[in-house]
Amino acid sequence: MARLTIPLISSLAVLSQLAHVITATPFFASEQALLDSTSDSSPSIEDTIHVTASDNLDPATAPSWFTSTLMARRLLALSTTGVASTVFPSPLSDNSHAPDAVAGHSIPLTEYFADCDATLPDSASDGGSGNPTFLALHVATTFRNTAAGSNISLSIDWWDHVDATHPLFPGFPLSAAGLPRVTLFGYIDPLETPIPKALQECYLAAHPDAKVWLPGKQNSPHASFWARMVVTQVYWIGGFGGFQQIGWMNVTEWKGIRKGGSLSGIGDGRGWDDVKLPGEKE
Ligand SMILES: *[C@@H]1O[C@H](CO)[C@@H](O)[C@H](O)[C@H]1NC(C)=O
Ligand SMILES: *[C@@H]1O[C@H](CO)[C@@H](O)[C@H](O)[C@H]1NC(C)=O
Repeated sequence: MARLTIPLISSLAVLSQLAHVITATPFFASEQALLDSTSDSSPSIEDTIHVTASDNLDPATAPSWFTSTLMARRLLALSTTGVASTVFPSPLSDNSHAPDAVAGHSIPLTEYFADCDATLPDSASDGGSGNPTFLALHVATTFRNTAAGSNISLSIDWWDHVDATHPLFPGFPLSAAGLPRVTLFGYIDPLETPIPKALQECYLAAHPDAKVWLPGKQNSPHASFWARMVVTQVYWIGGFGGFQQIGWMNVTEWKGIRKGGSLSGIGDGRGWDDVKLPGEKE
């Protein structure tokens, strides 16, 4: 049987580039073609992986875009923190302590959120349309920037599950770079008060410690407010190209997916509870 030798490179960037090369090349193409297509970047080869035809690899099994969107909604539902990016106003506000040099610059900060949209009244969420819920602090840079007019992007990943996953193929290392991440684009929309009790319960189930900075809490160090992030665009990197989808999602599908199914006319009727993320127990 044909035997391929695939160089293994330490750098993540080169590794993902390599994965594109691997997947862009039929798996059992000649070894020479693979070597040719990787030699121009002169990677330092630290190891080699041997893939044989008997490993029965099929790189053409990337999930469909709808299945990927179910995975993305599941990633949102199972996540409680992410990196929120906002942009400092330019010029900075008069009471800002930030250096003038960061005016107009983005600042990514790790924030709590929870997927509690389904607990909002139907008029606001239609049963959960994938808008993350925040318990926002007025003093926090993220929400000062949004109050000053910035939009917000939220990046969520599945990388800390890498140890529960399996290598992409025999001999390939476990690789966080091959696991899903999604970036949501949108804006902050403060919620009408009083908020539903179920929303607070949902959020505190994800973040029990947040009970000490609930709105109106006495002795709380900082004032807070409830808000949702209205998602307008979704960018998905499911993993290595060829094995997973990479690109912009259909936001109508993102918004139309529910836990147990999807709205009429959306996808094939499945919900985010009908898929698993890499490494999840069946
Ligand atoms: C930015 O925010 C405005 C509302 O403040 C919204 O209309 C617009 O769609 C947002 N842009 C994106 C890319 O979400
Ligand atoms: C997005 O999905 C909806 C619902 O399936 C579909 O009607 C629409 O044509 C899709 N949009 C694009 C740009 O593919």
